[in-house]
Amino acid sequence: MLLTKQTEYWKSVSVNGGKYMSQEKISVLIPEEKIEDRIVQLAEQISKDYQGETVKLVCILKGSIIFTCELAKRITVPVLFDFIQVSSYGSGTKSSGSVVIKKELDEDIKGDNVIIVEDIVDSGNTLSQLVPILKAREPKSLKVCTLLDKPDRRTAPIDVDYNGFVIPDEFVVGYGLDYDQKYRNLPYIGVLHFE
Ligand code: IMP
Ligand code: MG
Repeated sequence: MLLTKQTEYWKSVSVNGGKYMSQEKISVLIPEEKIEDRIVQLAEQISKDYQGETVKLVCILKGSIIFTCELAKRITVPVLFDFIQVSSYGSGTKSSGSVVIKKELDEDIKGDNVIIVEDIVDSGNTLSQLVPILKAREPKSLKVCTLLDKPDRRTAPIDVDYNGFVIPDEFVVGYGLDYDQKYRNLPYIGVLHFE
């Protein structure tokens, strides 16, 4: 059962118990059913690529939680989960900062077939630093799966093995992605407009 009404296009946000309407509006960019269809395809591809093996999905908190779960449910080879949280600090814009691990993986990945699951690859800064860190731990294999890719903003090159959707240079929320920690629970990907 879909959670979104198909007719819904604009989403206004009420704040203060509905007394005020927020200045943030969200328009649907990728509807729920399209995301589901694409996740089915990605999971089929992953299941084929790892036939006879176990995969460990490394979910990058918090943006990738919904995508990781929906993907895992549709993968037919055995799946293990682990979670890592990173943030970028630095003097300039946050996307150019160096990546710091805020929450470590619980388990060693040595010998594992690791797939890093990301919500969106934007500048590429996060993954271009995280991939070598995880590679140094000697997994059997290491791949990257992202729900969204904003190639127009790429400054750090990064190879993506599984890519859900290429999107234009817009700020998007929903399906795990946030603005100021909000909107992660929207069942679709929407563009956030400020008015
Ligand atoms: P990168 O290091 O620039 O590739 O940034 C990746 C991270 O930035 C993602 O994991 C998101 O947390 C965040 N991000 C980038 N673009 C968006 C967006 O449009 N909406 C929400 N978060 C975003
Ligand atoms: Mg993120």
